[in-house]
Amino acid sequence: MTPDLALEALSHLFDRDPALQSRRETGGFLIRPTALPRGFRGFIAEQTFRPAADRLKASGLRVTRRVSGRHATGVVLATQHKEETLANIARAWGHLEPGGLLVFAGENGMGGKSLGKQVAVALNGALNGALNGARRESLRKSTVLLAAKSGEAPPAFEAWLEQDQLAVRIEHRFATRPGMFSWKAADKGSVLLRRHLPDRFSGRIADLGAGWGYLAVHLADRAEPGTCVDLYEAELRALQAARLNLADAGPEIACRYRWVDVTRRALPRRAYDLVVTNPPFHEGQSADPGIGREFLTRAAEMLKPGGTLLAVANRHLPYEATLDRAFRRWETIADEGGFKVFSAMR
Ligand SMILES: C[S@@+](CC[C@H](N)C(=O)[O-])C[C@H]1O[C@@H](n2cnc3c(N)ncnc32)[C@H](O)[C@@H]1O
Repeated sequence: MTPDLALEALSHLFDRDPALQSRRETGGFLIRPTALPRGFRGFIAEQTFRPAADRLKASGLRVTRRVSGRHATGVVLATQHKEETLANIARAWGHLEPGGLLVFAGENGMGGKSLGKQVAVALNGALNGALNGARRESLRKSTVLLAAKSGEAPPAFEAWLEQDQLAVRIEHRFATRPGMFSWKAADKGSVLLRRHLPDRFSGRIADLGAGWGYLAVHLADRAEPGTCVDLYEAELRALQAARLNLADAGPEIACRYRWVDVTRRALPRRAYDLVVTNPPFHEGQSADPGIGREFLTRAAEMLKPGGTLLAVANRHLPYEATLDRAFRRWETIADEGGFKVFSAMR
């Protein structure tokens, strides 16, 4: 992983300011840190992306799926989704004691600068231009904003919370929210894979990296009664949406939801008749096709002998050697619009 510049900026700022150092010692919460920032060991971290949550736990931090209670300091790290970050800032405000310190840190390459400005404008309006000692710092190609909580929440915060709700946004059918892959539209690769799903099938099926359930719902639509669909997904927010999206699948289709890091957790072996996947090849901003290769290797291990993998990938991704190694035979069954669909047999 590339170093997280926003975390470095945060630690650096707190290291060099004695008032901030003593705040740091009192503890508080961090929302969406990807790793433990230096000096913040006494904080509790909210993280719903399983690989990051596992990493944080391993570094000795307490980790939660959702911050609760009131704290002296709350730090929000920018995610790739502006709407999620703004909602997290508004939610963090609610979890601060009066006089508590709200901190936002974001890499400028991820919109940190404009987010910092937007938050400052919202606070400034609410605090009659006084900004109550808020300051905005620019360092390590990142923006850090600090503001003490006083008075009512700025009116903009309510709208920011509103746009983070789980709601039907796609094809009049699928509920999504910010903070998950392709939350504004179905992914083009997954749409291509959907067109190559079998018309009817039964047995045990796994969807690796299931997201908010686009493929799983289409599988459930075509499955014979008695079929089991297991969804494996690292982002809890997405898995919660998938559960809602599969609510209409009917009692005759059994769905199970696994919040896991597919690349690291022991998964059932030789258990599935069909595995589908649109594997990730990023963590955060860093591209890493090694994650996708690991997904394909895992899929092979999970299939029963004779079972089938259906996978889609951006056509530039180098997955062929992995398919050669892990499967008895495989073929490209579609190559269209920058994506390729593989069918592979164990
Ligand atoms: C390309 S998206 C496909 C999502 C969904 N299947 C769809 O078609 O819209 C890949 C998914 O894998 C998830 N993911 C990323 N890393 C993961 C990991 N290590 N273990 C499990 N899931 C992971 C992402 O959160 C994302 O939802």
